[in-house]
Amino acid sequence: KKKLPLYNQKILVTAGPTYEAIDPVRFIGNHSSGKMGFALADELASLGADVTLIAGPTAQVSKYQSIKRINITSAADMLQQCLEHFPAVNACVMCAAVADYTPATVSAQKIKKHDGGLNIELKKTTDILKTLGQQKREGQVLVGFALETNNEEQYAIEKLQKKNLDLIVLNSLNDAGAGFKNDTNKVTLIDRDLHKTTFELKNKTEVAHDICIKLIELLKK
Ligand code: C5P
Repeated sequence: KKKLPLYNQKILVTAGPTYEAIDPVRFIGNHSSGKMGFALADELASLGADVTLIAGPTAQVSKYQSIKRINITSAADMLQQCLEHFPAVNACVMCAAVADYTPATVSAQKIKKHDGGLNIELKKTTDILKTLGQQKREGQVLVGFALETNNEEQYAIEKLQKKNLDLIVLNSLNDAGAGFKNDTNKVTLIDRDLHKTTFELKNKTEVAHDICIKLIELLKK
């Protein structure tokens, strides 16, 4: 039997949104569907990788039983799981849309409606990708995503460098059919040498395949 290209490679993938609780019934979330991350996990598994998938609240299901799925809710939960699993993997692809801010305090009871407005104080969450970038060992490959609306390439390159990534996948909300919820995406891959490849609009499975091909190249380095 021919060995698959990612045979024996342990890969961590994050997918979906996070929900940040305001009180027992409400949360702050985002429009991430989890489709891109699940497509990536499936594609990695089909290429032979041993995949752990940390997923926020999403309706997606994996194609392969071999994928180890860990469900989380908040950015803090995701950080904890990532810190636990990152040391043992060869590569990590962070596709999740992690909340950048979370309520400073969570009300134990449902907040009642009253006259006037309501202010919710927010505090910053820990940047998981940046934290993993600081912990990255020689040989580990770290991939991040950037969803931008303006100055796309400049912001993506800044992130790649600031977070010590090996590859950043840029998608722009300005491209029709790209980004959140769609079954398609249009991405540009930028590596540490600032080598840039722009792909056409494709379905997320095909986009996942393009990312996997690049990841295989980076793992060989
Ligand atoms: O800087 P920005 O949040 O736009 O970077 C996006 C990338 O960082 C994504 O890969 C996302 O998964 C990751 N991220 C993270 N933790 C956060 C915010 C973003 O890991 N708190």
